[in-house]
Amino acid sequence: MRHDQRAVVSAMQQQPVEVFSLELQQRRLLVRVDMNVPLQQRGAAGLPEIRDATRITACVPGITRMLSAGAAVTLISHLGRPAAGHWDAELSLAPVAQHLAEQLQVEVPLCADWLESAAPAPGCITMGENLRFLPGETEDDEALAMRMAAVCDVYVNDAFAVSHRAHASVCGVVRHAPMACAGPVLSGELRQLSRLLEAPVPPVVVVVGGAKVDTRLPVLQRLLGLADHIVVGGGIANALLHAAGHNTGASPLPEPSLAGSVRQLLQQARPGQIVLPVDLVCATRIAADADTRVCAPGEVSAAESILDLGPATAQQLQSLLASAGTIVWSGPMGVFECAPFAAGTRAVAEATAAAAAYSVVGGGDTLAALAAFGGAEDISFCSTGGGAFLAFLAGQLMPPLEALNHHSAQRS
Ligand code: 3PG
Repeated sequence: MRHDQRAVVSAMQQQPVEVFSLELQQRRLLVRVDMNVPLQQRGAAGLPEIRDATRITACVPGITRMLSAGAAVTLISHLGRPAAGHWDAELSLAPVAQHLAEQLQVEVPLCADWLESAAPAPGCITMGENLRFLPGETEDDEALAMRMAAVCDVYVNDAFAVSHRAHASVCGVVRHAPMACAGPVLSGELRQLSRLLEAPVPPVVVVVGGAKVDTRLPVLQRLLGLADHIVVGGGIANALLHAAGHNTGASPLPEPSLAGSVRQLLQQARPGQIVLPVDLVCATRIAADADTRVCAPGEVSAAESILDLGPATAQQLQSLLASAGTIVWSGPMGVFECAPFAAGTRAVAEATAAAAAYSVVGGGDTLAALAAFGGAEDISFCSTGGGAFLAFLAGQLMPPLEALNHHSAQRS
């Protein structure tokens, strides 16, 4: 492990105060969770359907315990990346509140003006509407953070998955809350991931896919210090293939300002450390009946997009994963929700589940893929984090965790 990663791990080993070490009876708890779950088109009830509820389910035991302890719980979360300042029906937390109510078997009213409303009664819960509708949330606006802190006696960060973002609901609020502590999901993640970083069994194979190239690039640079092999798929692979001089057709690419970092990543890696696809599945449209074509990198036509890894790459990855000592996977390899482009992600899911390695898998879409292809029960640890999980493993400073540690240190 590199020096900076070691420093972060040891900082995180000062586990912040956990919520259940506090007296909760009649306390107003503001509980920040990450219920940013993958959604799909509208169902019969008119609400978008939740494709994978793992992030909701993970919070249920903790919420149940807080309610049983007599706390008045206001739950807050973001969903997607809406433009701030107005309500967007597509990204309302309504389906999440409904799903949570079913799991908890209590009412979970969704409250748009929770910052101005009275707290629920002790033993009851309310859910604030999507935090990212609020101007200032993603800028860690001080005034907004103060308003959030004012509605609680105790602020609880139980949102590991967004704890790599310097946003008001995870950073600023900690500075102003009367008491701030960690929830059980956050504490559990910190314990498990710290353990993984302390003594990863080689060879360490990191598989990174998904579309959030801007978030993953700096993390990948730092993961060069941890991983023996970094396998790339999805948008990251397209960006690296493009930087390596291959034609990527109509595939979306990261903004031009990131081109330098992409090239730098390729230059910094040891030979063979970054495993690029050797073949690709391409099509001109994403549809169940789309005509697909397997081709080598560089043979993608201008009208085609790269939508999955090809079969030769999938086979290569399966043998790499079978011989790994540690596997870390975040991000699908292609548009796995659509059958013609699912094989690459399915191959990684199956090989990770079958491997003898210690395996850690994270990210909303990745967990959805695991659920779709089976095998979640064979994974050593499923993290609720995607970007956060990679950032933690890469030894990046995570402002919300710093803020919590700082708060705990001040109180001790
Ligand atoms: C995630 O899905 O990784 C977290 O919920 C953070 O979401 P963001 O990348 O939109 O900040």
